[in-house]
Amino acid sequence: MSDAAAPCILVFDSGVGGLSVARCIHETLPGAELVYLADNAGFPYGDQSEPVVIERCTGLIRRALEEVPCDVVVVACNTASTVVLPRLRAMIDVPVVGVVPAIKPAAGRTLNGRIGVLATPATVRRPYLDRLVDEFAGDCQVVRVGHPALVSWAEQLVRGVPVPESDLKEVLAPLQSSGVDTVVLGCTHYPLLREALKAVLPDVRHWVDSGDAIARRVLFLLGEAGRDREALAESHRPEPVRAVLLSGAVPIGLTGFMASLGLGVQRIHERWGGLADPVRATGST
Ligand code: DGL
Repeated sequence: MSDAAAPCILVFDSGVGGLSVARCIHETLPGAELVYLADNAGFPYGDQSEPVVIERCTGLIRRALEEVPCDVVVVACNTASTVVLPRLRAMIDVPVVGVVPAIKPAAGRTLNGRIGVLATPATVRRPYLDRLVDEFAGDCQVVRVGHPALVSWAEQLVRGVPVPESDLKEVLAPLQSSGVDTVVLGCTHYPLLREALKAVLPDVRHWVDSGDAIARRVLFLLGEAGRDREALAESHRPEPVRAVLLSGAVPIGLTGFMASLGLGVQRIHERWGGLADPVRATGST
């Protein structure tokens, strides 16, 4: 079901993580259509250099907008958002919403002043995160964990592979031992792992991600552009995803996984965008 009058939102990530954001957008604006664009041939971005991430992300988004005009672009990837937003905004006319680790809301919720930040290895070491911590959580103890396996475990969930619990315990040990009561999910893949994370750290009171805040921002921007916010929030759209555009192959189980998130899909294109596979970075990102 495609409705020419419905606004369309382009959601971008390196893999399936942005689906956690797409789900929040669909729940907040069930009347909107979505295009899901994933650079899964370039996944994981946590292993790529900044110039590679910038080039791939901007190139794919620009090409997608040529093919499917959209009203808002959401860069639903913390790793990309930390480096690409100024360039992207200078390049396209469409409003761009980025996602940043939710340090500020976490600092507002912690009761014991101890916050964990789970993110990709690239995000935990970028100055962008230092600035967020200095600005919003200067009086908190902030424990950062940037482990490369977490995004892969989230990708594997799509084909039904459960998260390996003992490995997850090991990854989360620094958060366990420091007694954090609030954890920031600083990568959009991680809300997909929420149940497994909660099982390993049952004492954490708040798991904070940015999905709902992004959805509210998108609704606000569409309202500013003259769209009827109430109608967008009230309609029902059983197949809200007009297209899935993947730079690599379709992951096994993708449509079923998306359906389980309420994201029915109209069509999928694989090996889309004509980008060559990236040369893997060997140094720091
Ligand atoms: N979902 C991306 C993020 O929020 C994953 C990054 C990656 O591909 O390593 O950072």
